[in-house]
Amino acid sequence: MRLPLSLVVVLFCYESVFALKPTKRDYSTDDYYVLEHDPNAGASLDECARALGVEVVEQAGELRNHWLVRTAKPSLDLSRRDSDRVLDTLEELRAQTSSSNFWSRSEHTHHSRRIASSVKHVSRQELRQRAKRAPPPIRPGDEDDGAETSQAFATRMGVEDPEFGKQWHLINDESPRHMMNVTALWEMGITGRGVITALVDDGLDYNSDDLAANFYAYGSYDFNDHVDLPTPTLFDDHHGTRCAGQIAAAKNDVCGVGIAYDSQVAGLRILSGPISDVDEAASLNYDFQNTSIYSCSWGPPDDGRSMEGPAYLIKKAMVNGIQNGREGKGSVYVFASGNGGRSGDQCNFDGYTNSIFSVTVAAVDYKGLHPDYSEACAANMVVAYSSGSGNHITTTDVGKDKCAHSHGGTSAAAPNAAGVFALALGVRPDLSWRDIQHLCVQTGQQINPDDPDWEQTAAGRPFSYKYGYGVLNGYEFVQAAQDWQSVKPQTFLNLPTVQIANGTMDVFESATGGEPIVSGGVSSTLAVTQSMLQDNNFEKLEHITITVWITHTRRGDVEVELVSPNGVKSVLAARRPTDNANSGFPGWTFMTVKHWDENPIGDWLIRVSDQNKENESGAFLGWTMTLWGSVIDPDASFKVYDVPLLDTVLPPVAEEGDDSITSSIPLPSATTSKTIPKPTEHLPPDHGDADGESHLPAFPGAQQSADPAEDVASPSETDTAASISVTPTPDEGWFSDLSSLMSNQLWFFIAIGAVAIFGIGAGVFFWRRSMRRRSNYTSLPAGDDVAMSSIGVTGHRSTARTKELFDAFGEVSDDEDADEETGLRPGARSPRVEFHSGFLDDDPSTAGLATPRYRDDPDTPQHDKERSGTPVSAGSGSGDGSWEHASETR
Ligand SMILES: *[C@@H]1O[C@H](CO)[C@@H](O)[C@H](O)[C@H]1NC(C)=O
Ligand SMILES: *[C@@H]1O[C@H](CO)[C@@H](O)[C@H](O)[C@H]1NC(C)=O
Ligand SMILES: *[C@@H]1O[C@H](CO)[C@@H](O)[C@H](O)[C@H]1NC(C)=O
Ligand SMILES: *[C@@H]1O[C@H](CO)[C@@H](O)[C@H](O)[C@H]1NC(C)=O
Repeated sequence: MRLPLSLVVVLFCYESVFALKPTKRDYSTDDYYVLEHDPNAGASLDECARALGVEVVEQAGELRNHWLVRTAKPSLDLSRRDSDRVLDTLEELRAQTSSSNFWSRSEHTHHSRRIASSVKHVSRQELRQRAKRAPPPIRPGDEDDGAETSQAFATRMGVEDPEFGKQWHLINDESPRHMMNVTALWEMGITGRGVITALVDDGLDYNSDDLAANFYAYGSYDFNDHVDLPTPTLFDDHHGTRCAGQIAAAKNDVCGVGIAYDSQVAGLRILSGPISDVDEAASLNYDFQNTSIYSCSWGPPDDGRSMEGPAYLIKKAMVNGIQNGREGKGSVYVFASGNGGRSGDQCNFDGYTNSIFSVTVAAVDYKGLHPDYSEACAANMVVAYSSGSGNHITTTDVGKDKCAHSHGGTSAAAPNAAGVFALALGVRPDLSWRDIQHLCVQTGQQINPDDPDWEQTAAGRPFSYKYGYGVLNGYEFVQAAQDWQSVKPQTFLNLPTVQIANGTMDVFESATGGEPIVSGGVSSTLAVTQSMLQDNNFEKLEHITITVWITHTRRGDVEVELVSPNGVKSVLAARRPTDNANSGFPGWTFMTVKHWDENPIGDWLIRVSDQNKENESGAFLGWTMTLWGSVIDPDASFKVYDVPLLDTVLPPVAEEGDDSITSSIPLPSATTSKTIPKPTEHLPPDHGDADGESHLPAFPGAQQSADPAEDVASPSETDTAASISVTPTPDEGWFSDLSSLMSNQLWFFIAIGAVAIFGIGAGVFFWRRSMRRRSNYTSLPAGDDVAMSSIGVTGHRSTARTKELFDAFGEVSDDEDADEETGLRPGARSPRVEFHSGFLDDDPSTAGLATPRYRDDPDTPQHDKERSGTPVSAGSGSGDGSWEHASETR
């Protein structure tokens, strides 16, 4: 236990255990930062804090070696908007360790070096508002009075909840086929007992008679007001309570029943006011040993124009959750796909639903139709029942014995799925987060089989952008869960990054090169070979993530699709009629689950096209692809994922996870203007009457594309890495737009950081040389096939380069005997370089050996062994089970 004992708060829980709750922040008197500390780099956390003039508050949620620190706000006359005492101090320290002082032996410089190398990065925390949405208005008179079937069931099973008959998602009297199908499980005594689901939302009315008995206070917290209990206090704080009711409303005489009515629910209140990244990250790991499921019915705006994902700390928290939560079995994150269907929004433009670490749930209505608000995309895994065709979801509401009759949207589909997962974990608590995803893929039920949006996957399953793998059917899911054999641990395979026509993009989002997008599009292929799979201990494909660098004057015109070697196509981006952004796709990552269980060997083709308008244009600069799946041999070594600090630069700066440069870049701060609302924000008020349909393809335009084989040079026989096919017309061009760059805050802050580092941090000597190396980057000329070996060379060159920079920034060693060329000697003590070079050799076992232990973390060894359950294997690069040590992808 590393948190200060003074923070311990006594909580009422079963046995009145002691819990560690976050301390109350006061942003009016203090400035807060998250400091990532490397305990093996020489300086203790206290020394670092003293050097930076900050006070350590507590660990940042469950993120190891990340600390929330604070300092009193400078008095008004001293505080200048453009300066930041803490970040300035860090820059000074870093400056002292390099450039002119590089060879200095003075005590002072020595001290600065130790501090500078021990502080991996510092990010200032700003409050931001997760915007609240107007609740959908109550539409009286829509509900049906309950028919015989549900009544008969209620009588037989002693269900006395007065509104049970209106809960058509439990028993649908009108369209009996369309319901979550869990009542038979109740009869078998499967009611979710022992499972805890956290509603990451706007509060939870634990005083409601429908929820009090199943409320789990220990795992609840209010991150908005920093008090222990997630009390709904604002007039529209009812969303979390309604979602909680769907899962765990008690079987009693109040309102209705939850899907897992003996399970427990916790409330993590984050949507009712301003929140910083550190708190959002902490909420997603809150009490993550006891809490199994995090139900999240929010995301970036569903306006058909936004393209946003979780910030770095939040991504880290999700990865921490799936790797270390639930004693290594992994937290189950359930995300609503979004309510922007009417605006042409797609869940592939949302970094939360696009994440492989979440289960993305879209909606179908009580007739089994696709409601027009529900977003389609290749990352949709399943659908669950929600509002539309004249009906809403009936569930518990805030207040004494209150019942809500207007709940709906994909916000309500996600908790229905979470409820089913709770039932499954009740009988199979040992299932991992990936077992849950596999079960979704396996048991999703096809509906509306004539819907043209269905397509057969290579594994023989029907998949649809609207319905994912189909409707989540509680009975089928839990039956399958009961004798499910847990999948082997996860690993991944990074394919080389393809630069198209020498395309590059830097941290400022400024681009060079690239192939103009012409009529018919620009295509490129990446080959996956048997030996790549073998060498990476990679057995069976699950998710695929694809990162693209594309410039365009109108992002909504761009279409991106991926075609597998077996001819299965994933539409990653379809047209978005209202998306006028001119910032393109600067290293945006798409995800598809459509290739689950497909044999990935062969050439994968990506095609980028636009609407071929006279006055709009763009260029395709580069792309890369990562295959995610299970290992062949869990006892052999394999790569485990870690979140890269900066993965949007082309060509990648930080090859294979060497983040020596990027770690010096202060993280972008969250700002007040960035809002990530619940999907109800864009949920149409008449979502209950949403027109359902089952005859329209989700992305009609995208269906017309020709056979990929036509415009690709036939793949070469052997280990061809990449080929590109275009019909370039020289007069098409692109330009990068500075104003959009500056309006994008993330890039703005990265830019500031980069300027600072490049300005004062780098020794001119090393920097010059690194630039020379940079020009050596291999790129793939149009129309040419490039052999694997040349790709390999690329990787090695970049390694050399990053190592140099690493040293130039004074982070490796203060030993003057270090090899002048690279700053590295055998046994140079930088754990990072040793570790990553292990991965560069594709020999994670070496890397694992080089992995250091954390000195200030006495409970590490034992603790981590326990955690290294399913997804994290001993002997891997993350042998100690810590995500900090894992490799990374781009
Ligand atoms: C629901 O579960 C029952 C088992 O009790 C099964 O027979 C039935 O087919 C399922 N209904 C649907 C719509 O899948
Ligand atoms: C939750 O987990 C903590 C340890 O992480 C444990 O001490 C506590 O008893 C657990 N609470 C419940 C209700 O299981
Ligand atoms: C890419 O750069 C190389 C070397 O600088 C050059 O030879 C080649 O022509 C360039 N390719 C394109 C398509 O511009
Ligand atoms: C292109 O033309 C359309 C109308 O034809 C206009 O709305 C749009 O703003 C133009 N785009 C640019 C980049 O000029």
